[in-house]
Amino acid sequence: MSGTQSTTHHQTLSKHTLSHSLVLFGALGDLSLRKLMPALYQLEAAKLLSDELSIMAVARTALDDPELRQRIAQTLTQYVSEDQLDHATVSRFLQRLSYCQVDLTQAQDYQALAQKLATWHPQISFYLATPPSLYGQICDHLHSAGAITDQCRMVVEKPIGHNLASSVVINDKLGQYFDEQQIFRIDHYLGKETVQNLIALRFANPLFESQWNHKHIAYVEISVAEDVGIEGRWGYFDQAGQMRDMVQNHLLQLLCMVAMDPPSQLNANSIRDEKVKVLRALKPLPQNQVDKHLVLGQYADGQHQNQAAPGYLNEADANTSSNTETFIALRAEIANWRWTGTPFYLRTGKRMAEKVTEIIIHYKPNSHFIFDQQQAAIAQNKLVIRLQPYESISLQVLTKEQGIDKSMQLRRDPLHLDFAQTQSQARIPDAYERLLLEALKGNQSLFVRRDEVELAWQWCDQIRQVWQAQGVTLDPYAAGSNGPTRACDMIEAYGHNWYEHCNDTA
Ligand code: BG6
Repeated sequence: MSGTQSTTHHQTLSKHTLSHSLVLFGALGDLSLRKLMPALYQLEAAKLLSDELSIMAVARTALDDPELRQRIAQTLTQYVSEDQLDHATVSRFLQRLSYCQVDLTQAQDYQALAQKLATWHPQISFYLATPPSLYGQICDHLHSAGAITDQCRMVVEKPIGHNLASSVVINDKLGQYFDEQQIFRIDHYLGKETVQNLIALRFANPLFESQWNHKHIAYVEISVAEDVGIEGRWGYFDQAGQMRDMVQNHLLQLLCMVAMDPPSQLNANSIRDEKVKVLRALKPLPQNQVDKHLVLGQYADGQHQNQAAPGYLNEADANTSSNTETFIALRAEIANWRWTGTPFYLRTGKRMAEKVTEIIIHYKPNSHFIFDQQQAAIAQNKLVIRLQPYESISLQVLTKEQGIDKSMQLRRDPLHLDFAQTQSQARIPDAYERLLLEALKGNQSLFVRRDEVELAWQWCDQIRQVWQAQGVTLDPYAAGSNGPTRACDMIEAYGHNWYEHCNDTA
């Protein structure tokens, strides 16, 4: 499994398709400084930015261009590893930057911005790295200042709303000024290399595609364990919870990538059409079987990296009576020809034992087993797709234990594909590098279409309504653990297991 040659035609990006400008709102915020500026720097280093590309940083603080550049230079030393920082590249990158001071809530401030942009190439990408509550105002004010043309693009971060109704309001507002082809909704999981690799794995390998259905797959597990806690984001997180912060977007996007039918072509709308069909086929949570399908948890005091770690309610600034979920495990079912009878277990939590994002395809056993019956329990193949950390794909296969004394004793070993080794990549690009590049190119494949966002909300809203109506309680789990034990009980009741509980030979 360790081929070293790329057999696909590598789609090199023509520099000429990138010739417009980027206007970054919220340029001094956390997302911009931690992710976007470093990602743009890496694109500069990889020579993927067109020579003409100008970047305007927009924020409320009073700064001039040299002060902004100084600030970004400092940021790069903080968030880009030393071996990646090259003096000449840094100064080339900084030269692209200029600054415009705008209080995003003040219409008159946009005049100065519009005047500056009037002298620029009209193909402008606006990127809103701001709270979504500002999206509407920013669009209105940009429009009133005459800064929106039909050549502009609008890139927006999640969350698009906090339920279906509020997402419709935001989408309507975006739609008032931009066509759907001009709107790029980010779900940064779609920019992760291994997520894109799902397309290659599934649709370039007949071996997998021919087995990719309910006849061969017993269940699918999508686990996104985070070791971080709330990281000073109480105000946002307590209103959201893990369902809205992670499941509505990242986990459902992963589910769609695993479950969708092959798109007829490798273009944005074909892929998104298939994802939408999956979202439409998701069954609502059965009202009379909530505990068989759903477990909610909240982390309690425990340990993180060998240090005492406070529980959610004991974090700084906590609302001590909060009943927001920091963990959720869900059994999802897809009512279509491919997946009927194959559950998808989704699980995600904050402050868990370690940061691991994995998709595990648990294959069905052979219907007739000729080996020692005591070994039947391990006689299943598993395909483990690890998104982070250490991106890899590993197929668990059964072999015979070697040794003259072992007769036909089975063991499960991985056929392992470690991307860092097989592709001799010094560094796996961050998701934002890919997403910024694709937005600048105008390729929407890795962005979320309006109907996807709204169908995802519709499914999540129904589940939340049921759990609220039925007063589902939160199970505590110790910070630094694998989540509430009831998440194991739920899946084991179906004869299934989370991967770490059967990870005997991985
Ligand atoms: C964000 C969520 O979208 O994704 C955060 O708002 C979460 O709460 C983060 O921690 C996880 O992203 P990643 O790439 O670290 O898995």
